[in-house]
Amino acid sequence: MFNKNSCIYLDESATSRYKPYTVIRRVEKELKNSANAGRGGHKAALKALKTIEECRETVETVTFSDANVIMTKSCTEALNLALFGGKFGGEIVTTVYEHNAVLRPLEKIKRNGVKITYLSDRSGIISPDLLKKRLNKNVSLVVMSEMSNVTGAVQPIDDIGRMLYGEGIPFLVDGAQSLGRTYSDYEGVTMIAGAGHKGLHGPQGTGFLCYRKNFCLEPLIYGGTGTSSDSLVQPAEPPEGFEAGTLNTAGIGGLTEGIRFTVRHKDEIEKHISSLSERLIAGLKEISGVKLYTDNFNGVISFNVNAMPSGEVSDILDSRFDIATRAGIHCAPLIHRWLGTVVQGAVRASIGWKNTASDVDRLVYAVKEIASGNAIRNY
Ligand code: ALA
Repeated sequence: MFNKNSCIYLDESATSRYKPYTVIRRVEKELKNSANAGRGGHKAALKALKTIEECRETVETVTFSDANVIMTKSCTEALNLALFGGKFGGEIVTTVYEHNAVLRPLEKIKRNGVKITYLSDRSGIISPDLLKKRLNKNVSLVVMSEMSNVTGAVQPIDDIGRMLYGEGIPFLVDGAQSLGRTYSDYEGVTMIAGAGHKGLHGPQGTGFLCYRKNFCLEPLIYGGTGTSSDSLVQPAEPPEGFEAGTLNTAGIGGLTEGIRFTVRHKDEIEKHISSLSERLIAGLKEISGVKLYTDNFNGVISFNVNAMPSGEVSDILDSRFDIATRAGIHCAPLIHRWLGTVVQGAVRASIGWKNTASDVDRLVYAVKEIASGNAIRNY
């Protein structure tokens, strides 16, 4: 019944499968014209520099303008730059809904004597009021993801940002899952980290940190920047001082095109993903033995089947039905503690622009087969 060659890809939260033709063409063009941006004054190097500058401006269209935009290899690197570069002391407030890209740097910072406070709420949403009650004069930073990579829940980032701005507390947002989907205004946000390869439809190996020009950070990576080269001291001027080493110019060119595609189709993408999410959730709800952890239509749907380990369900989906999902803890251990799924983990189906109603229906069919015991792992 199922065509073995046509994998149904439902792992968009890990990496979007579809890359627009403009992205692929641009990566190819940049590779064919390779030169090192900022490492020479010849025309080819200047052209490469223009590619980088163009991407910084394009990133601002989905974050905020008049920013320092530092190109990184991933959202994780961008978050590390923000968390370690800000030299935050006292207390940092975060949530249990975070990815290890936030939790692990915070754990390191905690060992240096900084208090870390983890917030949660039964609803999965942190309201500005709840957060405000937990603030005190020692809080030097609030950091949270805009969209959970496990439940798809979206935090009210703009309301929180405005509140924190009023309190004079810096606010770092992990936009790994939300950029390309939520289009918040980020008015009160101090820094936002993003991944190029997820909702922005760019290549892997691209990410960025976008931060306010009046905010002070220290570089994370030391080395050649093509600036102040006579000095042994790392230049601290953004962006170059924060981008030591040769940049991924081809990927960055591709990211520009990915963002352009995403913004151009933003309403259709939103409508498409929310309607498929609704269809999938409705289908899964009909299956006896399925427990859902997602109550929104944001395209990130986690569930379990009876008491089966999530990894086993995901393996059956892959091996018997050619459906790619992600199981386990999704690099987000505290939200799984909060959900009570640390041992079982959860199966996550995440939906993208090229998924169809038939993909969703095939997943529902497959889960029904698994839940009823008709489908077991195919070794
Ligand atoms: N953070 C990515 C995910 O949730 C890789 O799968």
